[in-house]
Amino acid sequence: MGDYQESVQAEPWHMVGLASAFPDISQDNERCHILPACKTMSIPRANGDGQSGNRFSNLSDQVLVFKYKGFLHAIDNQCPHSSFPLKQGNVFDIEDMGTPHGAGIRCFRHGWKFDLFSGQGDRGPHKLNLWDIELRQPSPSSAGDTPACTDQEVWVRRPPQTQK
Ligand code: FES
Repeated sequence: MGDYQESVQAEPWHMVGLASAFPDISQDNERCHILPACKTMSIPRANGDGQSGNRFSNLSDQVLVFKYKGFLHAIDNQCPHSSFPLKQGNVFDIEDMGTPHGAGIRCFRHGWKFDLFSGQGDRGPHKLNLWDIELRQPSPSSAGDTPACTDQEVWVRRPPQTQK
């Protein structure tokens, strides 16, 4: 058995826009399609690793950010099953005995579902990567000269990777 060490690769935070740029997709959107009100961005990994070669070029580097029923979510845009873009999916309530207590996303390609708060999939071991998300007050330089600005910045960070 060889010696090896595990370390956690810290990922940097990225500002993805102001909170007002993310309209709630549950409003005026009966089927809760994400596409009209989401943002996808390519954010390469801090260590430069990427999983190239899939059908959707740099999908593995993309984060999908949207708001549903008051909660902002940041997730991989790549479906854990077979790399389809989740921005084409739709969001739904998870209910227990008729009481909503969570939300999930359904992939458009084969219909698999993933919990938006745990990442757990409904089939097999596939799990969706959830990004960290923070709301921050704009710094004076990014807020311009508008002292009354109440909008907040949305920052996201890829979950840490374990390195061996
Ligand atoms: S690619 Fe998403 S469910 Fe198959």
